[in-house]
Amino acid sequence: MAEQDQSGTTTSGTKRGVHGAWASRWTFVMAATGSAVGLGNIWKFPYIVGENGGGAFVLVYLVCILLVGIPIMVAEVMLGRRGRQSPINTMRYLTEEAGLHGAWNAIGWLGVTAGLMILSYYAVIAGWALHYVGQMASGAFQGASAEQAGAIFGNLLADKNTLIYWQTIFLLLTMAIVIGGVTKGLGVAVRILMPMLFVLLMILLVFSYKHGDFERGLNFLFSFNYQALTWEGVLEALGHAFFTLSLGMGAIMAYGAYMPEHARIGRTVLAVGFIDTAVALVAGLAIFPIVFANPAIEPGAGPGLMFVSLPVAFGNMTGGLLFGSFFFVLVTLAAWSSAISLIEPAVAYLVESKGFNRITANLSLGLMAWVVGLGSVLSFNEWADTRVAGFTFFEFMDFLTSSVMLPLTGLFIAIFVGWIMKPDTVREELDDESNRVFFSWRWVLRFVSPLLVLVVFVLGLYKTFW
Ligand code: PFF
Repeated sequence: MAEQDQSGTTTSGTKRGVHGAWASRWTFVMAATGSAVGLGNIWKFPYIVGENGGGAFVLVYLVCILLVGIPIMVAEVMLGRRGRQSPINTMRYLTEEAGLHGAWNAIGWLGVTAGLMILSYYAVIAGWALHYVGQMASGAFQGASAEQAGAIFGNLLADKNTLIYWQTIFLLLTMAIVIGGVTKGLGVAVRILMPMLFVLLMILLVFSYKHGDFERGLNFLFSFNYQALTWEGVLEALGHAFFTLSLGMGAIMAYGAYMPEHARIGRTVLAVGFIDTAVALVAGLAIFPIVFANPAIEPGAGPGLMFVSLPVAFGNMTGGLLFGSFFFVLVTLAAWSSAISLIEPAVAYLVESKGFNRITANLSLGLMAWVVGLGSVLSFNEWADTRVAGFTFFEFMDFLTSSVMLPLTGLFIAIFVGWIMKPDTVREELDDESNRVFFSWRWVLRFVSPLLVLVVFVLGLYKTFW
């Protein structure tokens, strides 16, 4: 067992709890929701549903959230709160505590690396949203048809300088917050912004109900057309369950490290999972009816889906200029509160172990994400035809992180907490839960989650490449 001296320093030489803590359980809920609700819900979920033919994919996704996402999220928060450090040092501390092989530290490393890789392309897409704020406000989409909206989006993708400009601005914004520490500012901002985002989504929902083909949209999302589902799609749904809940990459573990000692983890995680799923479904219901009302937009249009269908809606809505730019401000803010949690675990590690301060840590990591992100920028124009195993650079980064690294890290976490850690240690950290809740959770985490991840992962990879 790792010894701790008075200052909270472990035998591995790292300090526990140096980054401060959330003011309350509620601040944790908001911060974790801020991390979870992002581009994954509003941009990615609808377009991958579209690419995978609708309802059956949605069902698989919901099953993954319930049987894999929520149980693993509880495990991550629990690990973080016990370790009270960056994911890398948390895992080091916990393996030392249990006298285990150092290979388990790979969980921390894999997660932190995946986070930075995701940040690289996340910033590019968030940059599109930033650009759209101005486009909306300037009236570029006023009265636009689906064809016109598609052309405007196409022109943006072709223009790499504009893409790099907005990608840079978004990364600078992200670093600015993380330099200042997550506890202040962010908690407050998220508490105001998340409800606003929700209200705006509702307004869009009403618009799509009135002006879109709502019935077809609803059918597409909720009727289970199994023929459309493939094993690749199932793997994508699983990967997305991790992505959307910010799991498998240390973000939630890092946030768990700042959680108050006696906050109930179970119900907290359920709240975050519920809000996250609700936002994704409402986004789908706001987007697809508009898509089906405009034959020029394909449900399988890919990453551009939201950037074409929503401007069409806004451009033809009273007050659309205002609502539209406001909407993209909020998408940006949702992305912002997520991006912060993508870089924070690595920042925390550099500060704890490598003698960086928050400024130098952010600048170095931000620069790395920026350089790798250029690959994604170019994959939408100059490198659009360059493919590795059928993927563009952006698609490859997305696949590697969401469909490979996150499920793998999640699998290791489930095995570590379910099978390797001493049950007493786990129980001690979750002592606020009733026996029934605790033992059901542990059972699912031991048997259901790992098996599901393993089967889907192996079959999905097999079908993707062979
Ligand atoms: N959950 C975020 C979203 O759905 O957009 C993305 C994300 C944030 C993934 C933070 C991972 C993470 F650590």
